[in-house]
Amino acid sequence: MPELDPLRSTGAAREFTSRPVSDAEVHAILDDARFAPSGGNRQPWRVAVLQEAAVRRGVVDATRPVWDDYVAITSDGRVPFSVVDGAPPAEVESGQPNPLIDRVEQVPVVLAIAADIRAIAAMDADSGRLPLAAGASIYPFCWSILLSASRRGLGGVLTTFVTRVQGSVDEMLGLPEHHSLAALIFLGEPAQRVTRLSRRPVGDFTAIDRFNGPALNI
Ligand SMILES: Cc1cc2nc3c(=O)[nH]c(=O)nc-3n(C[C@H](O)[C@H](O)[C@H](O)COP(=O)(O)O)c2cc1C
Repeated sequence: MPELDPLRSTGAAREFTSRPVSDAEVHAILDDARFAPSGGNRQPWRVAVLQEAAVRRGVVDATRPVWDDYVAITSDGRVPFSVVDGAPPAEVESGQPNPLIDRVEQVPVVLAIAADIRAIAAMDADSGRLPLAAGASIYPFCWSILLSASRRGLGGVLTTFVTRVQGSVDEMLGLPEHHSLAALIFLGEPAQRVTRLSRRPVGDFTAIDRFNGPALNI
């Protein structure tokens, strides 16, 4: 099989083979990811490698109601947790299946990613709009973890559900003061390897001079 460019082939993997991933591999992945950019190069990331089954279970179980809401809002045909349409779901059915939650003990690697918010210049936090800029100092790091994993024949997925329940898992995770959870990242050898990702073409989202200008097509 020809070598794939991780930038174009790193899809989300949620089910994994039983191949274990060593601490050395996790270290190597994080050793790649630490070269991610961050505002002022302040590198606000902190990582907890969740190895104990009880900690994994406690953390993902706390996210279950979030997943149930997510499924319910999606099945209403809406975008979950949108700040534009924040209406609650019509009907929530609890216990929706989710391979990451249901079988977290079998996931080869579970990483909790936090950011030291004292190190982040939150440019748009006072804008009255949904703040986006602060996340730009932590999510490139998360994406680099996934890219590095992909280059090593592994795969995984980034999830943000845990950010909604930080208050119920912070003690369990030993989250330091002034830190915010950014993601849980699940890694392993993907059970199935997706190589053709479905993404919009450049001309669909790129315009010349202004966002409502002519599309950049070649
Ligand atoms: C910010 C963010 C949050 C995400 N949250 C979840 C999640 O909670 N659960 C999940 O299974 N996938 C999650 N994903 C993965 C996306 O569903 C996935 O990247 C997207 O559907 C594209 O899938 P593909 O790369 O396989 O085409 C998340 C991705 C991002 C970037």
